[in-house]
Amino acid sequence: MKIIVVNDYEEMSRKAANIVASQIILKPNSVLGLATGDTPLGMYKNLTRFYQEGDVDFTDVKTFNLDEYYGLDKSNPQSYYFYMMENFFKHINIQQQNIHLPNGMAENIEKECVQYEKNIELAGGIDLQILGIGGNGHIGFNEPDLKFEAITHLVELDENTVKANSRFFKSLDEVPTKAISMGIKTIMGARNILLLASGRTKAEIIYKAIKGKITSEVPASILQLHPQITFIIDKEAASYL
Ligand code: F6R
Repeated sequence: MKIIVVNDYEEMSRKAANIVASQIILKPNSVLGLATGDTPLGMYKNLTRFYQEGDVDFTDVKTFNLDEYYGLDKSNPQSYYFYMMENFFKHINIQQQNIHLPNGMAENIEKECVQYEKNIELAGGIDLQILGIGGNGHIGFNEPDLKFEAITHLVELDENTVKANSRFFKSLDEVPTKAISMGIKTIMGARNILLLASGRTKAEIIYKAIKGKITSEVPASILQLHPQITFIIDKEAASYL
């Protein structure tokens, strides 16, 4: 396990983007696992800049996002598809057919989940998975007490997660209570993992994830067992370590 403590959000974002960029430079057809939320926004901005400056080429890169809300269409501004297009994909030269997110509107969710796993496998598996961490220790939308062996599946979001996500919606009622998420097993299958965390609100959960006991009550604690895991956390998020 590598733990890189940096000064602030900007430094975290730059370092993360550098790692993703080297992954792509060394292997132009890399398969990336991507996250949404506030944390990776700065990383996406830096990667966009690297692309604009001609340093990174996304032509052969494939991406698989961790999760998507159940019941939200791609065109819904709150969907993760929309987020990824707005904040990253529309600014770089990734090919549309290389972008993958679970389809939150799929008629047969079970089939959608099985197919998502198959697509990851067909792409050769994930080379580098980017993760944020929820205040309750969730990674993807694997909430506390979900089985570690889970693969892509439909999850019921925690009350706390619904509340935390409500900042992006007009009211709490509008926040979806379900999502399709890669499972812990899917995430642990990635060859390399990069978890990013910034700010004091993440300090306690970062401590539990890195130093605490490995338990499904803190889903991120399983990452202690991954052979190639790097945490980039700023001073505030590292303040309990
Ligand atoms: C997002 C995801 C979530 C977030 C987590 C942290 O695709 O899977 O696990 O990474 O909720 O969110 P932020 O970065 O907004 O604090």
